[in-house]
Amino acid sequence: MMTSPDLPAELKAALDGKLRGFSRSDAAGRAAAISKNYREGGGSTTVRSETDALAYALARMPATYAAVTASLNALVENGPDFAPKTLLDVGAGPGTATWAAAEAFPSLTDFTLLDANAALRALALDLARNSTRLRDIGYQLGEARAGLAKADTADLVVASYMIGEIGDAEQRSLAELLWQKTHDTLLVVEPGTPAGYARIIALRAHLITLGAHVVAPCPHDSQCPLQAPDWCHFTQRLQRSRAHKQVKGAELPYEDEKFSYVALTRAAVVGRRRSRVLAQPAISKVEVTAKLCTPEGLTFTKVPRRAKADYATARRWRWGDAVS
Ligand SMILES: C[S@@+](CC[C@H](N)C(=O)[O-])C[C@H]1O[C@@H](n2cnc3c(N)ncnc32)[C@H](O)[C@@H]1O
Repeated sequence: MMTSPDLPAELKAALDGKLRGFSRSDAAGRAAAISKNYREGGGSTTVRSETDALAYALARMPATYAAVTASLNALVENGPDFAPKTLLDVGAGPGTATWAAAEAFPSLTDFTLLDANAALRALALDLARNSTRLRDIGYQLGEARAGLAKADTADLVVASYMIGEIGDAEQRSLAELLWQKTHDTLLVVEPGTPAGYARIIALRAHLITLGAHVVAPCPHDSQCPLQAPDWCHFTQRLQRSRAHKQVKGAELPYEDEKFSYVALTRAAVVGRRRSRVLAQPAISKVEVTAKLCTPEGLTFTKVPRRAKADYATARRWRWGDAVS
């Protein structure tokens, strides 16, 4: 079962409820300043007050939620029996990945979140307060590595849009700690930029040397076959609510979030792996041309129209799909 990329009704209602007490133009002003700091590589350090946290959540939570959900959907597709009970959400911010994981896995009963930002932690607890599943989340305030060292292992560990806020030199030790605390599966999601991809690919390569196996997006544990300036990323469309549009000063009723991710497991993935579609396929009257990452490496497959059934199947391929 695929989970919807749009925020669940409970979370939408909680965000709308919070927004009632705030001026939308204040929130829009703060969101613009926070986004500018992000684009300049400053991370979420400018999120300090309750208004900042809410502005951040309104502007970015729908998109990071959509990216985490798309990644979880890919992981579920490749491991449909995975039924985690415990979650560890590192750099949890307003709780985005926790909400996404709760939707994707009804089996989750125990949620631990870690973050150094007090304003985002307070917002996360507020948003979760009236949720049936999330009202008892445990949210530790503090530096991720110190928090991780003390944390119990979890079936599913997620770091969403987080490792980019850690200095290059510390990313390796953070990756090791994330893996140490992973009982079954680790999901790391980053912005779909060359820099975000570079962080994912470095973490992937390092953790494979420590025994990790890739569940998604790669159909293999070998070196990534893409050559710079190419980079592996995906895109997820999400609907914008009225508040979301207002806070972003945007007109379009949707946006497309670009993201890169890797899901790693302790157990090797068995059976023939399906190839990953790495860009939107080109469909013509003559053929479908698709860029695929296959178990053997990168290929540009052409499916001619005369191969009727295959052509009909390939016409439905979408960027990010796993196909055989
Ligand atoms: C861009 S936000 C992402 C929040 C959330 N995971 C999401 O996907 O929406 C990055 C989060 O990582 C947290 N963070 C960054 N560096 C950290 C560190 N060293 N220790 C703990 N939290 C950290 C920030 O406080 C912030 O909440």
